[in-house]
Amino acid sequence: MTIDGPAGAGKSTVACALAERVGFRYLDTGAMYRAVTLAVLSGAGEAPEAAASGAWRSYLDDPRLRSREVAEAVSAVARQPGVREAMRAAQRAFLEQGDAVAEGRDIGDVVWPDAELKIWLDAAPAVRATRRGGEDALERDRRDAAQTRVPADAVLVDTTSLTPAQVVDVLVALVEERR
Ligand code: DC
Repeated sequence: MTIDGPAGAGKSTVACALAERVGFRYLDTGAMYRAVTLAVLSGAGEAPEAAASGAWRSYLDDPRLRSREVAEAVSAVARQPGVREAMRAAQRAFLEQGDAVAEGRDIGDVVWPDAELKIWLDAAPAVRATRRGGEDALERDRRDAAQTRVPADAVLVDTTSLTPAQVVDVLVALVEERR
């Protein structure tokens, strides 16, 4: 299944907890784009496409993945066609291995159109900003807009007035309906 949506909708917290509840593997595709970005920032002038061909893997667990430096640079890296192509191939390779919860921006629409359940997670802008570092999150969404796709067959879940635990309960119920 896929969970797409803007920054601050609550995707990471919810997707990870959901995967654990239903016994699926978890794929955080934002972390992959962040790892490519960190590889570019850390490497000696390495081009994003080169970083996306392999070096990114050694940055996936780096504590700097969630730093402001990476957040500011990631959109420009993630929009490079060569980077997207390499990341989508790596994502599909992971998803071919069995049940998973994959979260991101373009997963249900582009990466995994055959997913059995597609969620679009959203929340009011003021709430998203509060959850994710103020106006920076909204600015990043504007920069990521071209990469963000709402699948036509997605179930829309508005998390504005829900706790993460409540969102997980809603999603578990949707998964159970399909089992
Ligand atoms: O979900 P996140 O904030 O960790 O994502 C980091 C960045 O990666 C975000 O600015 C948008 C980009 N991204 C993307 O372009 N496509 C995805 N499937 C996931 C994330």
